[in-house]
Amino acid sequence: MISRTTISRIFEAVRIEEVIGEFVTLRRSGKDMKAPCPFHNEKTPSFFVSPVKGIYKCFGCGKAGNAVTFLMEHEKYTFPEALKFLARKYNIAIEETIPTEEEKAKETESESIYLVNAYAQRFFTDNIFTTDEGKSIGLGYFRERGFTDETIKKFQLGYSQRSRNAFTETAQRAGYALDILRKAGLTRNDNDDFFHDRVIFPLHNVTGRVIAFAGRTMKASGSEPKYINSPETEIYNKSNTLYGIFFAKKAIATHDECYLVEGYTDVISLHQSGIENAVASSGTSLTVEQLRLVKRYSQNLTILYDGDPAGIKASLRGIDLALEEGLNIKVVVLPDGEDPDSFAQKTSASELRSFIKERTTDFIRYKARMLMDESGKDPAKKARIIKDIVLSVALIPEPITRTVYIKECSNIINIAEEILNYEIRKERENRYRQKISRQDDLNYIPEPASAPVAFQPVSPESTEQQEREVIRILLNYGHKIIRISPLEKGVRGIDPSAESGEPGEDIPVCRMIISGIREDGIEFRNPVLAEIFRLYCGEFDRGIIPEDTFFTSHQDIDICSASVELITSRYRLSDWETKFRITIPADEENLAETTMKALHALKEKIVKKMIIDFQEKLKNSTSGDEFQDLLVHDRKLQELKKHLSTRLGRVIIK
Ligand code: UTP
Ligand code: MN
Repeated sequence: MISRTTISRIFEAVRIEEVIGEFVTLRRSGKDMKAPCPFHNEKTPSFFVSPVKGIYKCFGCGKAGNAVTFLMEHEKYTFPEALKFLARKYNIAIEETIPTEEEKAKETESESIYLVNAYAQRFFTDNIFTTDEGKSIGLGYFRERGFTDETIKKFQLGYSQRSRNAFTETAQRAGYALDILRKAGLTRNDNDDFFHDRVIFPLHNVTGRVIAFAGRTMKASGSEPKYINSPETEIYNKSNTLYGIFFAKKAIATHDECYLVEGYTDVISLHQSGIENAVASSGTSLTVEQLRLVKRYSQNLTILYDGDPAGIKASLRGIDLALEEGLNIKVVVLPDGEDPDSFAQKTSASELRSFIKERTTDFIRYKARMLMDESGKDPAKKARIIKDIVLSVALIPEPITRTVYIKECSNIINIAEEILNYEIRKERENRYRQKISRQDDLNYIPEPASAPVAFQPVSPESTEQQEREVIRILLNYGHKIIRISPLEKGVRGIDPSAESGEPGEDIPVCRMIISGIREDGIEFRNPVLAEIFRLYCGEFDRGIIPEDTFFTSHQDIDICSASVELITSRYRLSDWETKFRITIPADEENLAETTMKALHALKEKIVKKMIIDFQEKLKNSTSGDEFQDLLVHDRKLQELKKHLSTRLGRVIIK
């Protein structure tokens, strides 16, 4: 590992504008520098570089980070590669260290799972080519489906025996510990194999290592699920995974287009036909993580649908997400009853190519036509369609693209552009307001911006918004001194004994936050925010108030991008202010109050959630005693909530 001292030395030497300037032409803009964003297509520059803070941020696509993450994103370097690049550029000698025990343990567990997966993949593939059972059942099956041996080898397909524990036994004999076999999800708790009597599809990460497996049953009857997947592990997160990305990434970048299909066999058959830029979402609806994986290689996503209208309708939600991510979406509808696999097996490679080429339709245009065909001349239906189209177009972040669509759709559905324009503007403002009010439990406005890229969209019952606000204040103003009255000193605010006649006290904001969080034993639910808080406290307890660069130059990419996001959120604020002509009082105006409100908002949200959970339990409680206990608990929670609310009310009207 590259030593912490070397990393600090590199970060001290780096001038972010010099690093990014190697790839992008930057122009000065006040204190900052700007350019058209290198990560998405745009004409007016919304990519800002702050030489002072050493960070960059695009207000169009949301990409943000420091010089190292820039190299990782733009040049696809790994973290150590990016550091080595910078060390060379700035003539810094690299010093390597031995990892700590904790780092080693974590590293070792992931690494062991990778190793045992690699072993399992070889075992399943060997079965298919060397055992009688594997040859007759597994290999027979794949050949029947039209897969060549070359294809089977390329995708490392395999077979798991009928026997209940052939794999686990062999693996143990080969020296793999039961504990790791279980952690990898290959062995069940009763020591049986997770997969048996199935053909196996290994799932690879972007770098080509096996992270999990999918198995298709060989049983004809529908008594078992057709496909099962390894359980999630340290290295396998289902919603972050796209099947085939390792085999497809190069072709996606060179063709500047990614085909999205539903199943494993669809990807494999397309590859075999020479269409290598195809990946599968594997039966789940698209996630933001999957879309971002695609965006690393191309902005253009084409969805191949089987000709089943119900399936198409079901997928519309996933596509809205993709529009929101700024991807250009196209669709190809296959002939009735065909999926990409069956169709690719039936047609020649060149027929397949020209079919796809001819049938590719822009998604919004497709949706507008599909809905128009459905509605006929019914005016009520037509109104609903307009609404529906407006909803989709309003999601597109890039204004120029929106304008183009508005023109198109106005032609297709025969409605004046101005009307669509007006409706879309209204919808965008609505969405924006909803975002505020979702965060606005206590008439308290944390952040009037869209969900930052470093974070996932949050559900209304999640405490993440409030957690984020507390950490945002901590990072931006932790060192600022505020005067608190004795009333607030307890910070809990629900402790009446805190009301004494003492004079106020000057403390840094971070102390107010840290003691406020610790006193109530609050734990942040978002793991990245929890880690930032933990690191902050670590420094604080050593008597140091960490600078924001401590986090924005942190070697953990999640910490880095989350902290950049939180530190730059004020930029976004002014951006929104000009767009929507709203004004929000600056945090600094009354920092003590801002901090207090943020803490209370978080606490109240937690208590509210506890109340909801308890009421759920109350509803389901069976015995009378249990009911009584819960009732007492619930009353306590209600009281706590009331305390918090009145306390907060006092803060607001004061
Ligand atoms: P399909 O049922 O369309 O399967 O599910 P398929 O890919 O055409 O498979 P074959 O041709 O019957 O072998 C599409 C995708 O949905 C997921 C799988 O990723 C599958 O490839 N799926 C389906 C599951 O995860 N579990 C299931 O039980 C079924
Ligand atoms: Mn199929």
